[in-house]
Amino acid sequence: MVELSEREQELPDLEIDKLLEIAVEHPEIISLGPGEPDFELHPSLVAHTKRLAHKVNHYAPPGGFKELREEICKKLKKGNKIKVSPDNVVVTCGSQEALMLATACCLDVSEQIILPDPGFMGFLPTFELFNANPRFVELKEEDDYAVNPDAVKKAVNRKKTKVLLINSPANPTGNVLSKKILEELADIAVEHDLYIFSDEAYEHILYDGAKHYSIASFNGMEDYAVTFQTFSKSYAMCGHRLGYVVCNEDLAEAIKKTHILSTICAPSISQLIGLKALKMGDRHAKQMVKEYDRRRNLIVPALNEMGISCPMPKGAFYAFGNIRQFDDNSKRFCNKMIKEAKVAAVPGIDFGTVGEGHARFSFATDYKLIQKALKRMEPWLKKYRKR
Ligand SMILES: Cc1ncc(COP(=O)(O)O)c(C=O)c1O
Repeated sequence: MVELSEREQELPDLEIDKLLEIAVEHPEIISLGPGEPDFELHPSLVAHTKRLAHKVNHYAPPGGFKELREEICKKLKKGNKIKVSPDNVVVTCGSQEALMLATACCLDVSEQIILPDPGFMGFLPTFELFNANPRFVELKEEDDYAVNPDAVKKAVNRKKTKVLLINSPANPTGNVLSKKILEELADIAVEHDLYIFSDEAYEHILYDGAKHYSIASFNGMEDYAVTFQTFSKSYAMCGHRLGYVVCNEDLAEAIKKTHILSTICAPSISQLIGLKALKMGDRHAKQMVKEYDRRRNLIVPALNEMGISCPMPKGAFYAFGNIRQFDDNSKRFCNKMIKEAKVAAVPGIDFGTVGEGHARFSFATDYKLIQKALKRMEPWLKKYRKR
């Protein structure tokens, strides 16, 4: 048989794939695995989808419909204090595609990208696909998993580093970067002439008065900041595959050109639903956040009580717990939890080597199901400790 490329063979096998499959095939398992809202699409958007059905069988422009990009600019100005024109925006199939396109346009082979460990499992393989050179900055539990600007400075290689990636609010840790840290990171970008890839997928999912700052809104960041946002989490539109990237015009043009070679354009129907969603504002997101907060207040104290210590997340919808009291090996722990307690979570190792000894529990899961999962875990963990 003809061999697969080395590039593909070297991509890591992520445990989450297996877990999601198991959860679908075995309804008796309660899955705290998925990273997507469990909420329905807003009824007004469902009605709008029906109205659009006969109008959306054509390609959209590769950069996205102008009307949508204009509405995105309004949202960026009001919600993120980012002042840009539609020429700075490229609409993509989710922010994951935007990340891939930006990587293709910004990083040559062996050029370095600094990224957090632990970090979203989609980051590293994307950079590896393009043979870029990842350099990790360790996030520490005792710092609530905030990025340490001094560690970033140390990681910068004057000749090789081209990009610094940040993700706030963060998956899997729930950390929200402070304005001060972001300002320091912005200074590093200017001093070393780096792009900052700012993944803001969870920008609306914040708790306890935490505030989200877009680094692109800071003075002098126009040329450096590459902002990734998405409709997936804020509007419960994961399946619509709609996101966008905001950056300087030259890079936006390059990304648009590359987009023609990947998916040509984001789905026309999703773009028109996204336009309507933006016009509706963030009321739906606020309702969802209220419910996430209720679940957060259920799951985090319960995990801590059971011996899985985890800081209270300030954003996103994950509890990232330390399981070392039970097992150092997160794959083994999660596999056993599925088989024996019938509860699925994602092993911390999927988020990087620093993530080992941890597991991610998603509370984008119904309240009652979380209660049921915790009930199953409690006796199981007691036995696990004694092994
Ligand atoms: C941090 C982060 N970035 C990006 C994505 C991808 O989102 P999208 O659906 O916009 O491709 C996810 C999905 O879970 C995520 O957690």
